[in-house]
Amino acid sequence: MDTDITHVLLVGGTGRFGGRLASALLARPGIHLHVLVRPGTRGEALRGLAEHGVTLVGGTLDDMRSLDSALEGVDAVVSAVSGPPEVRVEGQLRLLDSARRHGVVRFIPSDYSLDYTDADAGDAFMAAHRRVADAVVKSGVPHTFVLCGAFMETALSPRAQVFDFARGVVSYWGTGDEPFDVTAMADAARWVAEVVVDPHAAGQRLEFVGDVATVNGVAALYEALTGQRLRRVCRGSVEDLRRQLVRARPEGAFVQASSAQLSVLSQLAGKGRLREPATAEDTRLRPMTLRDFVEARWRMVPASARVTSPLASQP
Ligand SMILES: NC(=O)c1ccc[n+]([C@@H]2O[C@H](COP(=O)([O-])OP(=O)(O)OC[C@H]3O[C@@H](n4cnc5c(N)ncnc54)[C@H](OP(=O)(O)O)[C@@H]3O)[C@@H](O)[C@H]2O)c1
Repeated sequence: MDTDITHVLLVGGTGRFGGRLASALLARPGIHLHVLVRPGTRGEALRGLAEHGVTLVGGTLDDMRSLDSALEGVDAVVSAVSGPPEVRVEGQLRLLDSARRHGVVRFIPSDYSLDYTDADAGDAFMAAHRRVADAVVKSGVPHTFVLCGAFMETALSPRAQVFDFARGVVSYWGTGDEPFDVTAMADAARWVAEVVVDPHAAGQRLEFVGDVATVNGVAALYEALTGQRLRRVCRGSVEDLRRQLVRARPEGAFVQASSAQLSVLSQLAGKGRLREPATAEDTRLRPMTLRDFVEARWRMVPASARVTSPLASQP
């Protein structure tokens, strides 16, 4: 049974994951979607949203008055913002405060990550998630935390510093068989759209995983599909990686663009794996496996481009 949540405000709906969230929320009957749009933000995504009957509300996390007016008549808030601490922490705390004063019945902060309650996972970056999570619990606002490991899109991008398909190189620490949790963005988005109206999700920290991968497994999959051999480079032991992660982020420091990197590297270092992910049966979703994901990308590569630039040419 669903709650009577109808009006959902999405903040960060113009972003990479937020765009997928907007589509997933729109696909759910009974939800009327509002999207907060910063002054000056333009683009295809916005035109698409407006055509689908979304209420676009001007505003920014920096301006409490704009948040208060965006929260009018809203039942639930889903955040998919990203940025420096002024946005990720202070901005979301303002959003939470406004949500509390407006009596929203569901608040989902912008997590969609590995398990940041594992104290050593991702250090300073994940500490920002923890600060927001603590404030959410303290606020008394009914909430749900959503964790999904690494996005497949980011885990396989060169930004994660593991797979560099364009150069034909794959990096690993330890044996390459260390597992990490991955979920396709669209599946994580579909799951959030389920969770936001689910009465049983109130007060929960929910975990959902599309697949469990290893560096060797992804490399083998890629080679079988493309016929291209990847050069494997051992960067050290798992202990070396742990030391490197701690050194890279002194306490209190903020590392930009670290979602992609940390979501995989921390897990390879044995940190932040999800403990009790829901199964496909629990969620009624059939998430993409990593194999589905890689094959789908491969099918999108034109035959003429396959020899020179296999999966690397995909976004
Ligand atoms: N698990 C993983 O592997 C992984 C990987 C990537 C991201 N993530 C997580 O997913 C979430 C979304 O990340 P993303 O990569 O989709 O982010 P993104 O593409 O950078 O989008 C950020 C969004 O935040 C909005 N925003 C930024 N500053 C704002 C402000 N002051 N007021 C209002 N809105 C503001 C942006 O609006 P404009 O369009 O106006 O700039 C945009 O809609 C984050 O929590 C991130 O950590 C997880």
